[in-house]
Amino acid sequence: MVLTNGNEIFKKAREGKYAVGAFNTNNLEWTRAILAAAEKTQTPILIQTSMGAAKYMGGYELCKNLVESTVKAMNITVPVIMHLDHGNYEAAKECIEVGYNSVMFDGHDLPFAENLEKTKEIVALAHAKGISVEAEVGSIGGEEDGIVGAGEIADVDEAKQLADTGVDYLAVGIGNIHGVYPANWQGLNFDRLQELGDAIKTPLVLHGGSGIPKEQIVKAISMGISKVNVNTECQLAFAKATREYIEAGKDLEGKGFDPRKLLAPGTQAIQDTVEERIEWFGTPKA
Ligand code: 13P
Repeated sequence: MVLTNGNEIFKKAREGKYAVGAFNTNNLEWTRAILAAAEKTQTPILIQTSMGAAKYMGGYELCKNLVESTVKAMNITVPVIMHLDHGNYEAAKECIEVGYNSVMFDGHDLPFAENLEKTKEIVALAHAKGISVEAEVGSIGGEEDGIVGAGEIADVDEAKQLADTGVDYLAVGIGNIHGVYPANWQGLNFDRLQELGDAIKTPLVLHGGSGIPKEQIVKAISMGISKVNVNTECQLAFAKATREYIEAGKDLEGKGFDPRKLLAPGTQAIQDTVEERIEWFGTPKA
């Protein structure tokens, strides 16, 4: 299967009241683990790079080539969407040039009129090349790779204006947070999600998918969330499995220090996490 854009996949998800998972990659192991989970479950998947992860890996072109070559090398047969997560204006333009299948232009920190104008520009550039676009209204609390949000709840009128630009999916601030949720977190704002879902037929995106209880995720999906982003949970699963391997002294046994052995439990833990989330999201087989 070649890489594909998200248009039809996410439209169908919204209509069918299920979600497709969007998982952040950081390196080769992450990429392989996410793709292996998609292939095993036979479901479409979105792999995304934040600006920080792309910088760490060597740039957008390298990331796109890594995912594309790994899809080929692993004989992946399900649809894979290569996406830019929380891009600024320059990053979104660069990923459109490089040939990502989908880009997020995150203008939440701009005055709304400027967010709207720049979203329109990115939509025109991306759609001319068959590339999907995600925009953001309100903001996602917490911090991810230097992108900080106060967690403003999305305004319905602003959300409508952004949806009218023709974006393919819209990230909404509904009390969700990047990273680990604080113990006193109030939960998702379902009243606002209901209003957004009633007003807009564009597939909606839930960021900060790590640590939200399953019942809340399932309910949000039934109300219009079609894409759920997960990053921190894969990082935590990788770190835990790797720590256990080292604490058990396995790196000191034979050639246990070989990176292909040392990184294997963490990579499997990412795959397991992704498979479990795919099941939560109700993604049907491709
Ligand atoms: P988490 O790291 O909280 O899962 O958030 C991921 C995300 O929303 C990526 O944009």
